[in-house]
Amino acid sequence: MQKLTGKVAFVTGGASGIGLGLAEAFGGQGMSVMIADIDETALAAALAHLRQRGISADGVICNVARRADVEAAAQRTLARFGKVHLVCNNAGVPVGGPFGKVPSGDWTWVLDVNLLGVVHGVETFVPLIEAHGEGGWIVNTSSMAGMMSPPTMEPYCATKSAVVAMSEGWSVQLAARSIGVSVLCPGVVQSRIDEGYGRRPPEYGAAPTPGPRPAKTLSMVQEGIPALAVGERVVEAVKDGELYIFTHPEYRAPVEARFRRILAAFDKAAESPAIKTLAPRDLPYFARAE
Ligand SMILES: NC(=O)c1ccc[n+]([C@@H]2O[C@H](COP(=O)([O-])OP(=O)(O)OC[C@H]3O[C@@H](n4cnc5c(N)ncnc54)[C@H](O)[C@@H]3O)[C@@H](O)[C@H]2O)c1
Repeated sequence: MQKLTGKVAFVTGGASGIGLGLAEAFGGQGMSVMIADIDETALAAALAHLRQRGISADGVICNVARRADVEAAAQRTLARFGKVHLVCNNAGVPVGGPFGKVPSGDWTWVLDVNLLGVVHGVETFVPLIEAHGEGGWIVNTSSMAGMMSPPTMEPYCATKSAVVAMSEGWSVQLAARSIGVSVLCPGVVQSRIDEGYGRRPPEYGAAPTPGPRPAKTLSMVQEGIPALAVGERVVEAVKDGELYIFTHPEYRAPVEARFRRILAAFDKAAESPAIKTLAPRDLPYFARAE
């Protein structure tokens, strides 16, 4: 989507961190921006920040885990700006822990927000983008955690891998409707994600006391790249029509190592006495798409 000026962007989790960076970067391109977030105080501060920079911005309280909230936020955006062209499904929360120690409420919460939140955004906005006939773009925030799975991050990685998988499929399905799809996979970025677990809603049951934050984790996020740089990288990628958006080229080595391990497993299958004597097979239709 090369022309952005005069169009409308909708960003979930837009009150902080990467979402605010996306809102500021797209606003800087002359787009009007609606930011949606669960945190009312942060939303007000983010709106003031954007408006100070001359960006036409508004905000809406929205819990992406609830489809009805996303639908209401979409209607608020149409009422305010008339149309939506670009949707950033970005809201996300951090959940992890040692094997067997992740409470079931935590699993439900991370799936509701990081996975179903993206589904709610895409399913709500695609018909609205289609209706105006000007085309559009969806950016789903995954993570490098969608490309690799470090131990103790399995719940978070499960959702972020799902966001990569869904975005890959949707990019093909939605191209036919003049809607592009990107999946954003950042490494460490300056944000408030470290505080995210402390804001876990009570409906998911009592949260275990997290204990003091490890200094290593705190400084890791603070030493991440600026969220605005991520937003500006996403602007470049949307203009160039990129599916995968990376922001940390230094992660190439561990991702390459993972892909090498996966490809080596195919070599094992090809050499396997149990498999190699079977009759040759054609690929099924769904594997031939590429
Ligand atoms: N910061 C990083 O290092 C990093 C790296 C890779 C991916 N990500 C992803 O980037 C996205 C943004 O995270 P961030 O790092 O900017 O964190 P952040 O905590 O600074 O921002 C997330 C925002 O989402 C909002 N939010 C949380 N739950 C919500 C819900 N149910 N509905 C609506 N809004 C909700 C929060 O109030 C907050 O304003 C997340 O999906 C996260 O997983 C972050």
